[in-house]
Amino acid sequence: MTLSLNSVHNINCFEGLKRIKPESIDLLLTDPPFGIDFHKVGTQYNRSQKELGKMYTEIPQENYYDFTLKWLQAVWKTLKPNASGLIFSGWNNLGDILNALTEVGGRLVNHIIWKYQFGVFTKKKFVSSHYHLLYFTKLSKKNDNERTFNRIAEFTNSKNPKKLYFEDVWIINRDYQKGGEKTPTRLPLAVTDKCVRMCSNENDVILEPFLGSGSVVLSCLKFNRKFIGFEISKPIFNVAVSRIEEMRHQLKPDKRKIDSWLEMKK
Ligand SMILES: C[S@@+](CC[C@H](N)C(=O)[O-])C[C@H]1O[C@@H](n2cnc3c(N)ncnc32)[C@H](O)[C@@H]1O
Repeated sequence: MTLSLNSVHNINCFEGLKRIKPESIDLLLTDPPFGIDFHKVGTQYNRSQKELGKMYTEIPQENYYDFTLKWLQAVWKTLKPNASGLIFSGWNNLGDILNALTEVGGRLVNHIIWKYQFGVFTKKKFVSSHYHLLYFTKLSKKNDNERTFNRIAEFTNSKNPKKLYFEDVWIINRDYQKGGEKTPTRLPLAVTDKCVRMCSNENDVILEPFLGSGSVVLSCLKFNRKFIGFEISKPIFNVAVSRIEEMRHQLKPDKRKIDSWLEMKK
């Protein structure tokens, strides 16, 4: 059965992706597992081992390319011919994502660096304090004018309102998670909001196959985008559901019509 829009599912994305209508997605916005052994190097990304061990599903490094190619191939079928995508990555397995993107026929538009305030103190090497964000499109260069890129003044680095430009280094702090269940890899809404607003339009459909605690969906709700999301881990999915509930109640009543995902909580 084809999945309805505005729904999130506690399932393996490989199962979910088969149930999305072909060529129905406008934007892929995803933060996949990084494929690193967090017990050795997780701390460099400020991801707590304790929390990860409890709920996060990782991919062994040796399988990372095959895993990435497999999910990207499945995603590719769901993307509209004029779709774009944004994929977060650490630096360890960045090469695998770039190679898999080339293999499926993705055309890289930008390689964005998201610089956050601070990683974790290291004595004998540089402190990691950035992620990569790969912005690609399914469109050929010839048809690139069909690509959505909203020139929103709020995000410009230019002082001249008549000449807006947007740099590919984003300096945005990570959130301090107050109270409630904490998730180790949560993206700040300042980052997901910017992706959603600049790279999609109202009512577009956004896909996040690796939902985590749901930041991408919260941005979709805030800015009136439709969404489909998958998360394999039950405890992390539960965090996403409570964050979505909370966000829905902050929205104006006419924007709260998103009910279909509720059935997926069971
Ligand atoms: C980097 S985290 C995403 C974090 C998210 N951006 C947030 O704001 O919380 C990747 C997520 O993918 C999930 N995951 C791993 N393999 C999966 C699969 N095959 N299908 C669905 N989710 C999966 C992990 O459990 C983890 O929560």
